[in-house]
Amino acid sequence: MAARIVGVGKYLPSKVLTNADLERMVETSNEWIVDRTGIRERRLAADDETTASMGTAAARMALQTAGLRGDQIDLIICATCSPDGMFPASASLIQEALGASSAAAFDINAACTGFLAAMATATQFINAGVYERVLVVGAEVLSRIIDWSDRTTCVLFGDGAGAVVLERGETGGVGPFVLRSDGAGARLLYARGPASSPNDIAQSEGFCIVMDGREVFKFAVRAMEEVTRQAIGQAGLTVEDIDFVVPHQANQRIISAVGKAMNVSPERMISNVEKYGNTSSASIPVALCEAWEEGRFKPGDRIALVAFGGGLVWGASLVEWTGLGSRLPAAAATEAVRP
Ligand code: ACO
Repeated sequence: MAARIVGVGKYLPSKVLTNADLERMVETSNEWIVDRTGIRERRLAADDETTASMGTAAARMALQTAGLRGDQIDLIICATCSPDGMFPASASLIQEALGASSAAAFDINAACTGFLAAMATATQFINAGVYERVLVVGAEVLSRIIDWSDRTTCVLFGDGAGAVVLERGETGGVGPFVLRSDGAGARLLYARGPASSPNDIAQSEGFCIVMDGREVFKFAVRAMEEVTRQAIGQAGLTVEDIDFVVPHQANQRIISAVGKAMNVSPERMISNVEKYGNTSSASIPVALCEAWEEGRFKPGDRIALVAFGGGLVWGASLVEWTGLGSRLPAAAATEAVRP
């Protein structure tokens, strides 16, 4: 048995924040941001948009492309590090909105590696024969945990959501998964929560993202190469067997450095970071969906997914592309979920 992707979806809020907008907010420049990160603009959730509402929109598209209804889903996992509340899980809110009445639902938080952790969990349930169809969502409203006066972080992040439907099948599929963690690096990248000890939060920090960018950068390049090679090796493959890499979209320089270290050409390193910035758990499913919409994948393609994030955590997996469930043309699926 194999868990395979039969649906993909994405949702990006319509409000665009450009580098020119940021120039008016903090002491920065379009040149600095493009040069250091490759990011030109990012999307911001409207006041009435939430992690769950954006996750629902992405999930609707994933169901549409799979040719499935919400009530045919057995489990919903939402990866997020910016949930609407501490509870209920965003996944439960998405379940209600989709009418997925028979689905179990819970959230997973592994920062920017959350989507891979959620995919790994979903795959275990499918491979064990427990569930047949699992909806995996990555959704973030990072704009609400950003200090908009801190130029070292506010230029990097954006909001959005992506989703996939995994279904039990005989061939192809998702895996192996390599998931790693090193809690010793926790202080390099974090955001305190509403249940933090008051002793733990400097007034100036609030609940916002705090990061040592330079250290995280060095860690990211080394860690992403390491786990991607491990996942490929565990599958009995070599880098040459991989058609595309979908990396976590944090910084074009990180993406390029990983590609260079692994000798993967830029055309095979999927990147949309210039349009959306870093959307944490949403970045891989959004990039995967967009590459599918652009017609870049064909059945049989081998795709490596790789991420890193606060924890520190990092991980990689492989996907053998089998084509989507309903084979609905990309344009029609995108149109179907347009708000
Ligand atoms: N505009 C202008 N200048 C800036 C800005 C800005 N937005 N931000 C920082 N600078 C300045 C710094 O103050 C510093 O000035 P100084 O030399 O006078 O001290 C100078 O630019 C260089 O700063 P560095 O931090 O060394 O710049 P670097 O080249 O490392 O780029 C960056 C910074 C883009 C943050 C990079 O380190 C990076 O991308 N790191 C990884 C971040 C990341 O991917 N995080 C993932 C989060 S995932 C999750 O789990 C949430």
